[in-house]
Amino acid sequence: MSTSSTEAAPRKKRERPVIAIDGPAGAGKSTMAAHLARRFGFLNLETGAMYRALALKAIENDLGFEDEAALMDIASRTKIRLEPQLEGNRVLLDGMDVSRRVRDTDVTAAASQVSVHPRLRAWMVEQQRLLGDRGGVVMEGRDIGTVVFPDAEVKIFLDAAPEVRGNRRYRQTMPGEMVPAKVTESSIVQELKERDARDRNRVDSPLRPAEDAVVLDSTSMTLDEVLAAAEQVVRKHVEDGQLH
Ligand code: DC
Repeated sequence: MSTSSTEAAPRKKRERPVIAIDGPAGAGKSTMAAHLARRFGFLNLETGAMYRALALKAIENDLGFEDEAALMDIASRTKIRLEPQLEGNRVLLDGMDVSRRVRDTDVTAAASQVSVHPRLRAWMVEQQRLLGDRGGVVMEGRDIGTVVFPDAEVKIFLDAAPEVRGNRRYRQTMPGEMVPAKVTESSIVQELKERDARDRNRVDSPLRPAEDAVVLDSTSMTLDEVLAAAEQVVRKHVEDGQLH
C-alpha cells in the first residue's frame, strides 16, 4: 500500500466526520483530541501510541531501530489495540496493557526512530484507516490529514514554538514525579527539537500541515483559548451541515 499523500482525494460520504489533528510533539494534540471527542461524542484515537507500542516491542526483542525488515517481521506478529478512554487511550500490545510503559523516554525516542520506515508506516496507516473509516473519530498524529485521511472532514494542525512546548511539558511532568536528575527544561526542549527534525525531515510522510488544514499556533495562547478555537473549527462544520 502506498502512503503517498492524496490530499486532493474526492471526499467520501461519511455519516459522522473524521477530525484529523496533526502537529509536532508536545503541542497539546492529545488534550485537544480528548476535549473534542468528549464535546462531540466521538472516539479519540492516538496514532502515536501505535508507533510507541511497536517501538516497545522492538526494544523488548532487542531489534535495531534502523532494521526495517526485522521491524516488519515483528509487526506481522503483533496486535496493537487502542481503547479510547475519557482522558486518552489504553494501549494493548499483544493483549498486555502497556499504556504507561509506552510513555517512558526510551520508548518515546525509539518511536520517533521506527516511524521513519515506509513499509512500517504503510502497515500502520492501513490499520488506522480501518479504525477510523466509518467516522465519528478524532484521530491524532503526524500524517492524519495528509496521508491517513486526506479526505477528513475537519483538519487541524496544532503547532507551538519548541521552547514553549518544552516548558509546558517540563511543568507538567515535574510535580511529584520521579524523574532522573539529568532531565531539565533545556534537555526536554532539546529532545523535542530532535524529534521535530526527524518527524519533519523524514522522506515518507513528513510532518507538515495539509493544504486544507486550519493551522493553530498555540505559542501565545492559553489552553482554554486553544480548545475554544478548535471547538469553533469543528462547530463551523456542524453549522455548515457537514457533520451529518
Ligand atoms: O504523538 P506521539 O508523541 O505519541 O508519537 C510518537 C512518535 O510516533 C513520534 O515521534 C512520531 C511518530 N508518529 C508518526 O510518525 N505518525 C503518527 N501518525 C503518529 C506518531
